[in-house]
Amino acid sequence: MSWRVVSTCPAFTETGREAVQSLRRAGCDLTLASGVPANDREKLVAASKDADAVIAALNVYDEGVFRALPGLKLVSRWGVGFDAVDLEAATRAGVIVTNTPGVLDETVADLAFALMLGIARRIHTSAATMHEGAWSQQWGADVNGKTLGLIGCGRIGTAVARRARGFNMTILAYDLFPRDEARELGVQFVPLDELLTRSDFVSLHAAVTDESRGMIGEQQLAHMKSSAFLINTARGALVDESALVQALNKGQIAGAALDAYCVEPLTQFHPLRHANNVLLTPHIASLTTDNGRRISEVAANAILDLMNGNAPKFVVNRDVLKSPALRAKLKDSQT
Ligand code: GLV
Repeated sequence: MSWRVVSTCPAFTETGREAVQSLRRAGCDLTLASGVPANDREKLVAASKDADAVIAALNVYDEGVFRALPGLKLVSRWGVGFDAVDLEAATRAGVIVTNTPGVLDETVADLAFALMLGIARRIHTSAATMHEGAWSQQWGADVNGKTLGLIGCGRIGTAVARRARGFNMTILAYDLFPRDEARELGVQFVPLDELLTRSDFVSLHAAVTDESRGMIGEQQLAHMKSSAFLINTARGALVDESALVQALNKGQIAGAALDAYCVEPLTQFHPLRHANNVLLTPHIASLTTDNGRRISEVAANAILDLMNGNAPKFVVNRDVLKSPALRAKLKDSQT
């Protein structure tokens, strides 16, 4: 029986040509939907009607969405973060949730480093003046030899640490589960306060959980050096954005380079857009065409695995594999 698959992920459409072909070759009835904003559950449900599997951008999947999509068996997240998916509701509904770890770490680390260099050397503001026809030389800050604080030092944080070694940086990290690979790179695991007070650059690489949501707020920003920069290529929800705007405008920290926001797309008149010394990019950390191809392939493989009766490789709600609701749905789709 052919599976109906819906992608609401523009990046999959743009870079996943081979992945699209492999799903179609396997007999999937594939719809590449566009114009489904991350928070618009109604549009999401309408676009995904009768879907067996979906390829999801940062769309919100909650109890209501799962109820409205009773045939859904798999949410294949195009990317690593799954904070927009209610995993418990997915498991209750018998829906497997997968992500694509391992293929995008270096690409995201590249952007984190680029933002660090960009904000420190004022590349964004210098380039803007050139486009305006001016010649305005601006003073920046060194990156080489400075102290980098990684909040979250999993695969991506460790990839950033590898780059930082080449820049002779002292590397601190705050993570509840220190990785051997990071220690071998010379990363020193320290308490959060110590990291904030010692770092010249604080780079966020943590997942959003109940504990980490808003973890960089007024108090934490007050602990940072006035010469320090905040870099965020992880999730906007880790940061209290109003506190950040205040800290920037008061000169409490030197600047921020951000690729992720509490609400995306960032609204046109959001105060961050006008805050002092910010370098803002529109959530492009994963967006290289090479990486897009890799992520799309892993996201599509999750669907192909399940269609072929196998558990996908990167299931994030593993309890669902024992769920009678899922088994019933899979049985129905085979008859
Ligand atoms: C990107 O935001 C991801 O979750 O991979």
